[in-house]
Amino acid sequence: MSADSFDYASRLRPDLPPPAVKWSGFPKYNFTGGHNDADSMPVADLIAAASNVLEREGRQLATYGLDSGALGYCPLREFIARKLARDTGIECSADEILITSGSLQGLDLVNQVLLSRGDTVIMEKMTYGGAITRVKRLGVNIIGVEVDGDGLSSAALASTLEELKQRGVAPKYIYTIPTVQNPTATVMSEARRSELLQLSKAYQVPIFEDECYADLTWAGKRPRALRAMAGNDRVIHIGSFSKSIAPALRLGYLVAGWPLMSRILSIKNDGGSGALEQMVLAEYCRDHFDTHVRTLRLTLRSKLDTLVEALRTHFGTAAELEYPAGGIFLWVKLPDSVDTSRLYQIALAGGVAINPGAEWMTDAAAGKSRMRICFAHPSEQVIREGVGVLADVCRREFGVPETIAGVHR
Ligand SMILES: Cc1ncc(COP(=O)(O)O)c(C=O)c1O
Repeated sequence: MSADSFDYASRLRPDLPPPAVKWSGFPKYNFTGGHNDADSMPVADLIAAASNVLEREGRQLATYGLDSGALGYCPLREFIARKLARDTGIECSADEILITSGSLQGLDLVNQVLLSRGDTVIMEKMTYGGAITRVKRLGVNIIGVEVDGDGLSSAALASTLEELKQRGVAPKYIYTIPTVQNPTATVMSEARRSELLQLSKAYQVPIFEDECYADLTWAGKRPRALRAMAGNDRVIHIGSFSKSIAPALRLGYLVAGWPLMSRILSIKNDGGSGALEQMVLAEYCRDHFDTHVRTLRLTLRSKLDTLVEALRTHFGTAAELEYPAGGIFLWVKLPDSVDTSRLYQIALAGGVAINPGAEWMTDAAAGKSRMRICFAHPSEQVIREGVGVLADVCRREFGVPETIAGVHR
């Protein structure tokens, strides 16, 4: 810093989160975040798509929002509308779809229009860390509800809603990741979805449905979206191309009817999400999305199997897990004596990065011995080695794993 540089410390607003840590490169064994498989990036087809669309429509870059208005590039919205109808049962027009800069922007926009300090929202007890931190930063109370192998528990939700009603609290929404949940990777059945919708209707609490992994079920199909089953705007739906194509594109989408969409659009005053990305993605997806995702699923599943095998070898019964229904994450429970936040710090020094469970739970203490492992980015060789290094660190610091055995499947 130069001698005359300005010190902002006394000028910063008091409610900022802790300062960011400078990026110093990825660790050798990186099991954190939602990074994708580098060999699966469809580079040649993206180059061809970019070249085609720029030659044909590049002049539109001269305007904010291309020739498509504030909702985003029309051919991309039309692709999403067709895909939603086919895969999720959501019937909507391109005008009910807003292109966002990643689904994180979708989360922010919905929160901005619905939440005020002191409000209450309901979330799955184990859920996406980025959703928890966002809501907490707004001074909003989170009520965590039990999840099971079928996702958000309707029995637990029913008693939570009733209890809140008795206390005169009207939650602003129920946030759920029904299709390949983060971090548990379960897929909620249609029966469970119906129960949630009945509760949402009975208590007049909207559902906020986050579906960024739904293209990545091993089965290649998924139950109808909650929004499709509701058939109305009581369910806000967001999705993303981060996991199906590439997170660095920063492209997601939000589906809502005009009364809510018009309020969301009035605060999305960013001049539009990246136009070039939208053009290239629309051009690419038209011909390649389905084949790309089919191949990606196979790659991811093979990496998952390598990870499960490595955990079986190095941790044995000390690592409890349920085999995921899809996605890029494995949610692991280690013995109670292991504090994964400490394990994270120590393992990082050895080049292994994991996500400690506390960050993926509405009650951080309950996640003390859990960890989330992203298997999409590291190669199978790196997965095998990394799990071995992690097991060594864990044994040295916590005395586990001691024994080696099987896995639930
Ligand atoms: C459940 C969930 N929602 C939203 C996001 C944000 O994704 P993106 O902004 O890249 O679309 C993530 C990322 O991991 C996620 O897991």
